Amino acid sequence: MIISASTDYRAAAQRRLPPFLFHYADGGAYAEHTLRRNVADLSDIELRQRVLKNMSELDLSTELFGEKMSMPVGLAPVGLTGMFARRGEVQAAKAAAAKGIPFTLSTVSVCPIEEVAPAIDRPMWFQLYVLKDRGFMKNALERAKAAGCSTLVFTVDMPVPGARYRDAHSGMSGPNAALRRMLQAMTHPQWAWDVGLKGKPHDLGNISAYRGNPTGLADYIGWLGANFDPSISWKDLEWIRDFWDGPMVIKGILDPEDARDAVTFGADGIIVSNHGGRQLDGVLSSARALPAIADAVKGELKILADSGIRTGLDVVRMIALGADTVLLGRAFLYALAAAGGAGVSNLLDLIEKEMRVAMVLTGAKSIAEITPDLLVMER
Ligand SMILES: Cc1cc2nc3c(=O)[nH]c(=O)nc-3n(C[C@H](O)[C@H](O)[C@H](O)COP(=O)(O)O)c2cc1C
Repeated sequence: MIISASTDYRAAAQRRLPPFLFHYADGGAYAEHTLRRNVADLSDIELRQRVLKNMSELDLSTELFGEKMSMPVGLAPVGLTGMFARRGEVQAAKAAAAKGIPFTLSTVSVCPIEEVAPAIDRPMWFQLYVLKDRGFMKNALERAKAAGCSTLVFTVDMPVPGARYRDAHSGMSGPNAALRRMLQAMTHPQWAWDVGLKGKPHDLGNISAYRGNPTGLADYIGWLGANFDPSISWKDLEWIRDFWDGPMVIKGILDPEDARDAVTFGADGIIVSNHGGRQLDGVLSSARALPAIADAVKGELKILADSGIRTGLDVVRMIALGADTVLLGRAFLYALAAAGGAGVSNLLDLIEKEMRVAMVLTGAKSIAEITPDLLVMER
């Protein structure tokens, strides 16, 4: 039974998924220190309780880049979402659209742009990686434009892939990986039937469409591994800025100086993120990085934040720390794996309820009233 958004869906996802997929989602880089800190630092943030302020009317809605949102939450780009539920990107996007919030399609999604964008009645966001193959980047941008995607999320914290040791242990990579994945699928028949068989093609939809031939999981690891570009700098982003007409958001900012550079570059927003602890272990959690970044750039561009958000209370905490909007990564992926689109819808309802309780008891009637003033400061 799902009672708590933060723990129950994760446990349900672990039961349903073959281990290689559960650990691909659940794991982080090296010793997973930053992954743990993301969650722990956020839950350590204490809020001031306020009472007797007539909190009968709450407004959770907000607006970002001209788009209305029922609450300041979006779904983060998550590669291979379509391996977690049948045509998983479509299911998650529909749940997000029904709730009135944005869904971001990853570069390395299973379902291609052209399958997801027409399935929903609000513009999708598209995430792009910096890749050596600039032809692919241009092709993906053109297709995202043609499909009516509104916001470009440009991920810059992956000039090299992070070392995720769990993947090698679990069968996602490492020796005999394909055989181990097959054996795991056989012992998880619900997933094997619903996603393994009925969810095909298990392609990297956007990359296959560009290359003109089907791609599989081995290609995901091989192609991406060979295609990360450590030479990237702000200058290389200029052609994208010129090419993309809509809002451009830089994902993977953790330092106030980089946030300032994003302002100078002319970005419309940044996402304060350490990629969910999947890149450099030992960097600051988003909750600890955010206040200094907000001090440096708040008001000059939109500040989004992710990494470690599991509950509606966490959403309120991140906004109090300085974010305008937050993104959910693993939180929605666990729900999707456990119960498909209905799971994501339920998760979003739980998040909303938790936000409402937090807002009533901190005396914030609207998102604009969730400010650093809600935080218990060290005295
Ligand atoms: C399984 C998985 C795959 C991800 N794939 C991508 C991706 O393709 N592109 C991207 O920009 N970020 C990707 N991320 C990072 C998320 O967008 C987000 O930053 C992260 O999940 C936030 O941390 P949290 O899940 O702990 O909340 C991925 C995260 C996970 C867990």
